[in-house]
Amino acid sequence: RKVIFSGIQPTGVPHLGNYLGALREWKRLQDEADPATTDLFFCIVDLHALTIPRPGKELRAARQEMLAALLALGIDPAKSTLYFQSDSKLQLTDTASVTDPVARASLKLGLFSYPVLQAADILLHRATHVPVGDDQRQHLEFARECVTNFNHTYCAYPDPNEEPSKAMTEAMLSPPEIILPSASAAKRIMSLTSPDKKMSKSDPSPKSRILLTDDAATIHKKIRGAVTDGLGPVSYDPVNRPGVANLLHIVSALDQKGRDPVTLMKEEGLEGCGMADLKDFVSDRVCEELGPIRERFEIYMRSPWDMRVEIEESAERAQKSAAKNMRLYKKVMGMSWD
Ligand code: TYM
Repeated sequence: RKVIFSGIQPTGVPHLGNYLGALREWKRLQDEADPATTDLFFCIVDLHALTIPRPGKELRAARQEMLAALLALGIDPAKSTLYFQSDSKLQLTDTASVTDPVARASLKLGLFSYPVLQAADILLHRATHVPVGDDQRQHLEFARECVTNFNHTYCAYPDPNEEPSKAMTEAMLSPPEIILPSASAAKRIMSLTSPDKKMSKSDPSPKSRILLTDDAATIHKKIRGAVTDGLGPVSYDPVNRPGVANLLHIVSALDQKGRDPVTLMKEEGLEGCGMADLKDFVSDRVCEELGPIRERFEIYMRSPWDMRVEIEESAERAQKSAAKNMRLYKKVMGMSWD
């Protein structure tokens, strides 16, 4: 079976980078998936979020906002298993950490614990495909190493003449593949205020990012204020003009016709025009895309209880999958009676 898994931190309302780099792909994969051959798991990783200490009520609000945003953009709990990490109580952390290949004492545990937790999410559901933005590449590489180690340690006998047991064959994992966004312009959306950094929730300036729930006036204002350069009319030059290129990447990623930045720039008459025209063009496209999401988000936020009911069954599915796989892993690891 194909198992698609991905996660997002409960950072409140997601930003345009999250959306273009990952969330929109989640929806696309969900809508294209054949339920006979594919399972999808999308997880709000609230346990990961504990690495940033904060009062419980803040995390509670951020979890709700993230869930409302995912539902609003079209993740459907009837098609995808959508759940909070803390609801799927079983953790595979221990397994992943014992097989961690790079246990050098001089490095701090914190450096390792995050990728370990992430690998555990992936391995717990036996994911074969992981749709994420470019910044997650290294974490995925780590998860693949965990798979190799796990298979080597528990799914093969050291003696090549000894046949692996049925459980060993079943437990054998395949290294998860990364799925980058189909529009390559979307894989790394940069900050609007410092285009050399990725758009990020942790940037202290709210002007650096567009939230999925920003209204049209806010979107126009943020994009009008986006840092570009004084190098004259619009051209595509990611190295020397990262701010302009980022705006072109955003519209290319949102383009219905799937045109790359240069083709789009030429066909839409943006090449050689002034920055203000480019910014208006970008703002209009972003507003068109996000408007309907914002409306649905507001409806969900008015009825948190309905959201809870909507994902209840989905959370049970996640638990079942986790429990089943964990039983199998424990068996091959020797933590069982047979
Ligand atoms: P997180 O919450 O930081 O981001 C969620 C997703 O958004 C993508 N992303 C971006 N894509 C393009 N441009 C950007 N500026 C940008 N910023 C963020 C990220 O690549 C990600 O796909 N460690 C993960 C969460 C996680 C996870 C997992 C992912 C936990 N367990 C298992 C996959 C599989 C994280 O912090 O994502």
